[in-house]
Amino acid sequence: MQFNIVTLFPEFFSSALQCGLLGKALDQEMVRVRLINPRDYATDRHRSVDDRPYGGGPGMVMTLPPLTAALRSLEPAGRMLMLCPKGRSLDHDLASSLAQEQTITLICGRYEGIDARLEQLFPVEKVSVGNVVLNGGETPALHVLEAVSRLLPGFMGHGESFEEESFVQGVLEYPHYSRPEVFEGQEVPEILLSGDHARIAAWRREMALLTTLEHRPDLLAGATLAPKDAKLLRSMNNQRRRIAKNCYIALVHAPVLNKFGQCGTVSLTNLDIHDIARVSRTYGMGGYYICTPLQDQQRLGTRLLGHWLSGPGQSANPDRGSALSLVRIVDNLEQAVEDIARQCGKSPTLVATSAQGLGELTFPQVRRLLDDEPVLLVLGTGYGLAPEVLNMCSGALRPIRYFSDYNHLSVRAAAAIIVDRVLGDDG
Ligand SMILES: C[S@@+](CC[C@H](N)C(=O)[O-])C[C@H]1O[C@@H](n2cnc3c(N)ncnc32)[C@H](O)[C@@H]1O
Repeated sequence: MQFNIVTLFPEFFSSALQCGLLGKALDQEMVRVRLINPRDYATDRHRSVDDRPYGGGPGMVMTLPPLTAALRSLEPAGRMLMLCPKGRSLDHDLASSLAQEQTITLICGRYEGIDARLEQLFPVEKVSVGNVVLNGGETPALHVLEAVSRLLPGFMGHGESFEEESFVQGVLEYPHYSRPEVFEGQEVPEILLSGDHARIAAWRREMALLTTLEHRPDLLAGATLAPKDAKLLRSMNNQRRRIAKNCYIALVHAPVLNKFGQCGTVSLTNLDIHDIARVSRTYGMGGYYICTPLQDQQRLGTRLLGHWLSGPGQSANPDRGSALSLVRIVDNLEQAVEDIARQCGKSPTLVATSAQGLGELTFPQVRRLLDDEPVLLVLGTGYGLAPEVLNMCSGALRPIRYFSDYNHLSVRAAAAIIVDRVLGDDG
């Protein structure tokens, strides 16, 4: 496989291309690397490759004339990748698709980057190696070179070596151990010394799933899983369960705003009670508080809950009872806070939600709070939470679709999206 690396610093690659498996693959010509320096294609006296940015600002920009001449000298250039922070993230799927190619050209930027018109002139795919800014595209180019080369048949020595590695089947790899058996009091897991290959394979699968669940649960959505894997994952969910238990939700029916911006009270709705309870139960939350000061509304809610918790609904649909058992009907938000403080030994941080503004809190920030303390997500009915409720909160979450011209979601839809962003697998 041929890699063309277009770089202002060809010397950057000299040691990397000589070491380990990559060095061996180059010796065997399984992988060939050609380094092309745009400076060799510069035509002015100073062989310049950069210039000041139009519009002003700091730094220099890699100019097009030498770079395009360098790229046009490549016959063929194959698939062209421009390494840049705004690109698609390099991952196993991209590396696998690149491993099918005969030729790949990697374009390394420097300075503030490359003149943006390059993308109009060549079919470049932008690729990033993370949400960080590096000095140049050379280390990202090495990421691509190594990730793709490892997938070439024969590169690894043992055919199966990469099959079990992280990301290949959508999960992270199990942990490895080697001699000595005991090191500074730390023992190798006993099962690995048993010689029982079937049990070792089962343990490794379990560890791979556990590691993925703990560190990268987002991967599981795309992983190849067997029914017994799903069963294992359900039993392993402890850490996430602890965090979710710290998270509570309150639906405030008073005081909320009406369409004239006045404070008032809104009636309960059966749909909100059921749907938010089911979301709360699905994500393993600590509880769901319905806040209304109206006695007849409280009676209505209590009757409704009674049907599913102890009435005919209990036997007809016990799953519904399990969700609705999380519901507490209280007079106001203060009572919800007191109840949570009683359960957790600590008052919750109140996080408001709104369809307006930009919010002061991000979803990952709220998720991090849950590591150490209870959090009460406060949702409003009507036209949103009254100012006095907002004032009780530490901050508001960024609205869902704040950049859309329409973001009037039902409160139960908003609750589901917010809870998934805080407790779901993508965070
Ligand atoms: C200093 S960076 C330019 C950063 C650019 N001004 C920005 O803020 O996005 C110079 C070059 O390094 C490479 N580079 C930096 N960070 C990268 C990343 N995370 N992934 C891929 N390439 C990166 C690109 O080739 C980029 O043109």
